[in-house]
Amino acid sequence: MVKVNRVALIGTGFVGSSYAFALLNQGITEELVLIDLNEAKAEGDAMDLNHGLPFSPSRTKIWYGSYADCDQADLVVITAGANQKPGETRLDLVEKNTKIFKGIVDQIMASGFDGIFLVATNPVDILTYAVWKFSGLPKERVIGSGTILDTARFRFLLGEYFDVDTRNVHAYIIGEHGDTELPVWSHADIAGTRISQWTKRHESKQEELDKIFINVRDAAYHIIERKGATYYGIAMGLVRLTKAILRNENSVLTVSAYLEGEYGHNDVYIGVPAVVNRSGIREVVELDLTAEENEKFTHSVTVLKETMNPVLSKY
Ligand SMILES: NC(=O)c1ccc[n+]([C@@H]2O[C@H](COP(=O)([O-])OP(=O)(O)OC[C@H]3O[C@@H](n4cnc5c(N)ncnc54)[C@H](O)[C@@H]3O)[C@@H](O)[C@H]2O)c1
Repeated sequence: MVKVNRVALIGTGFVGSSYAFALLNQGITEELVLIDLNEAKAEGDAMDLNHGLPFSPSRTKIWYGSYADCDQADLVVITAGANQKPGETRLDLVEKNTKIFKGIVDQIMASGFDGIFLVATNPVDILTYAVWKFSGLPKERVIGSGTILDTARFRFLLGEYFDVDTRNVHAYIIGEHGDTELPVWSHADIAGTRISQWTKRHESKQEELDKIFINVRDAAYHIIERKGATYYGIAMGLVRLTKAILRNENSVLTVSAYLEGEYGHNDVYIGVPAVVNRSGIREVVELDLTAEENEKFTHSVTVLKETMNPVLSKY
């Protein structure tokens, strides 16, 4: 039997079903199995997606399945669990979703799964740590979506502000995917030219740049106020990560990665740029941060650990 790429998706809510749709449209995997507590939703999504196959760029076998189907999966993507309600922070979800994750990860591992995990459920940095701990897999094979979406939002807004294609903007958001994240202004560039040169040329005021970051950091709150959830951006980010993994791209993406001394921190999953390929996280890219950026990053690590430790110590 020929081995083809199989992605198992756990959670076919707003984020999961948008991911499945984007994955099918980009023809990234040969097999996609959908698993959800709400079996009817997963089954309905599989039926609906299959009806798009005549229009898709390549054949994808899609079905609604069970945890047993994870045995042959190359990648398990988890988007299951509670999402933020208006006014709720991502960290508020920690107790609820850690409990849900214990059940999910135990069932996935019982199938004999030996691939890569990609986690998007919030609080994503803490839940990625939980998956690493619950699964016993090597740290390289447990990846969180981290600040991939925040970085995309940052690149989009900077592109709009300077009126340059967002794909020519290189700038990272690092830290917690949440309220303590930070922009790395010191390494932001557009087409090889430092942002500071662009701001000088545009006579930009500091308040305008600060506002760009605040809009990035608070984007989810603004979208949730308007439509209840955010899903298209993260879905496309997850597809980008899936492609980097399955096609062994060695792409640099801001993911939640396990730190073992990088950036001077240990034993935490947090958003940093990393090289992603078929074996997962090949390496963390260490940016030479300014003292102020370092301080903010350390604060973000501290907040994550303070939130995570009391919850995870129960397991
Ligand atoms: N990482 C990011 O950048 C990012 C962006 C947007 C949303 N999110 C997060 O993604 C998660 C999902 O958000 P959503 O809007 O799709 O929520 P949703 O409520 O639409 O979907 C969640 C799905 O999980 C399923 N589920 C719940 N418990 C389960 C279990 N034990 N086993 C299997 N399935 C289970 C539900 O049936 C539902 O279909 C949330 O935690 C949200 O905060 C992350």
